[in-house]
Order: sequence, then C-alpha cells, then structure tokens
Amino acid sequence: MSAWNGVAGSRCLLLLLAVACTLPSGIESIPSRRQCLIARDELSNLMDLLNNMDEPYDEYSEQEGFEDLEDSNTPSCSSKLEKIRTSVKELHKNYHVLKQIRQDDPISNYRMSKYRYESKLRDLNQTLSELVPQVSNQNLTALNQLRRKVKEVEIKLAKSVKNLQRQREETALALSTTVIEKIRTKSVDAAIAEFKELALRSEDPFRIIVPRVYRGTDDEATKMIDFLEKVDFNDRPIGGYEVLVDAMIVQNKLEGENAVRILKHIQAIIMARVGQQHERAIALLKRFRTKAH
Ligand SMILES: *[C@@H]1O[C@H](CO)[C@@H](O)[C@H](O)[C@H]1NC(C)=O
Ligand SMILES: *[C@@H]1O[C@H](CO)[C@@H](O)[C@H](O)[C@H]1NC(C)=O
Repeated sequence: MSAWNGVAGSRCLLLLLAVACTLPSGIESIPSRRQCLIARDELSNLMDLLNNMDEPYDEYSEQEGFEDLEDSNTPSCSSKLEKIRTSVKELHKNYHVLKQIRQDDPISNYRMSKYRYESKLRDLNQTLSELVPQVSNQNLTALNQLRRKVKEVEIKLAKSVKNLQRQREETALALSTTVIEKIRTKSVDAAIAEFKELALRSEDPFRIIVPRVYRGTDDEATKMIDFLEKVDFNDRPIGGYEVLVDAMIVQNKLEGENAVRILKHIQAIIMARVGQQHERAIALLKRFRTKAH
C-alpha cells in the first residue's frame, strides 16, 4: 500500500514539475489575457475607416492616422491591433476593386475579386473574435462596438455586392436574348459573335439559351446544334450539349440525324482534351448511349 502511495506520489511530483516547467513558456504565448487595450483614438480611427467604406480607397493614406497612437500594449496585443487595422484597410481596398470591375470584364475577374473581398471580411471577423478573450475588461465595450460596426458594414456592403451581381445578370440576360434570336433565325455567325460577349459575363449561359431555343421539335434541335458546333472549345460547348441532350431525352427525341451530329461533336470534344470538358463529355457520352435510339 505504502509503496503504491510512493509511486503515486512521485508521479504527482513529476506531473507538477512538468506543469511548472511548461507554465512560463505557456504564459508567454498567451500574455494578453484580458490585457489588450484599445485606445480611444484607435477606436475612433477604426470606426472612421469602417464608416467610410464607400469613399475611394487611397493607397497613399495607408498609414495615416495610426502612426502617432501611443501604444502601451504588449507586443502580442499590438500585433493583434495592427492586424485589425490592416484587415480593415484590406477590406476597404478589396471592396473598391470589386466595385470597379466593369460589366464587360470577364466573369472570372469578377468572381476572383468577390472571393478576395469576402475572405478579407472573414479575416477581419476572425481577428476581432480572437481579441475578445484578450481585451481588457474596460475595453470590452469598445471591442463590441467595433464588432457591431463590422456587422453593419458587412450587411451594407453585401447589399451593394448583390446589386452589382444583379446588374451583371441583367446584362447577361439581355445578351442571351439577342443570341437566342440569332439562333432562331439561323444567323449562326452573328449568334456566335454575341455569344462570345455573353460567355465572358455568365457562368453558365447555356442554361438560359438552350431551353429557350429547344422546346421539343427536331427543327429547334437542329438550330441549336448548328450553333453549338460553331462554339469555340474554350467557351465550353459541352455545357450546351449537356442541357440539350437532357432535354431531348425528356422529349424522347434523341434520335436520327440530330443524334448523330451531337454524338460526333461530343466525341470531338473528348478528342480535343480541353480541361474538364473532357470528363464532362465522357459522362455525357455514357448518358447518350443508354438513351439514344
Ligand atoms: C480602454 O481602457 C483604457 C484603460 O481603462 C482607457 O484608458 C481607454 O480609454 C479605453 N478605451 C476606450 C476606447 O474606451
Ligand atoms: C463573423 O462572425 C460571426 C460570429 O462570430 C458570424 O455570425 C458571422 O457570420 C461572421 N461573418 C463572416 C463574414 O464570416
């Protein structure tokens, strides 16, 4: 019994030693437990920045306003606050880049900018949340004020971003109406020229076009195929065949000359090995084989 106690006792001691040894370094890595201070000027500078997101972004004023702030914080707190300033400025900058993307810029640019802007917003949110357990009790209200403001800004900017997106969609819809008109009247070359513009702006233009051209007759399918055969490989004609083949399967019309032409072009896309269209074409070919007659 006493031997057992001895073992347990020395285990205890070892454990205590281990804790004691790790404690100082542990403290060093989280020195800022409720120690971070947010100065009044710091808060008001950040609030100003957040209130002025719609003002143009000015690279030259990047450091302005913060350099004279006196900083009685530990290095860890200072770097957190620094990160918040940087995040707010990055958010401002990326929001403006996004706003300046023009209607006729490629959708890939738009998507990229939107992604960047949204990830800056997440960064800022994250940094503010990380500061919650570290900020001094006296400044918790200030931090929460900041977080509420960020939420407010997030909602306001989301509206504006949504608006931009809606404008793009309206433009794409107007363009697709022209394309559809030209396909129907068999002006294939003109349709292709307009389609080039549309493909820049729309993720998936065929989802709009195909159902409005093909409503179930062989003649409509032929017009659609006349067009799809001329779409540049880089504008991803496979998307058009996917929608068309599915619609023809539903109508039980995947047959005859139209089916043969589609089959040939799917095979051409497979042979061309362009990006992920290759896999999509193989998948479509499988679907095609089980349904064509
Ligand atoms: C944060 O707390 C410190 C210390 O109490 C105080 O001097 C400072 O004004 C507070 N900051 C804000 C924004 O209230
Ligand atoms: C920011 O964080 C809050 C919770 O801390 C969350 O509800 C909100 O969705 C987040 N926003 C973004 C843009 O990540």
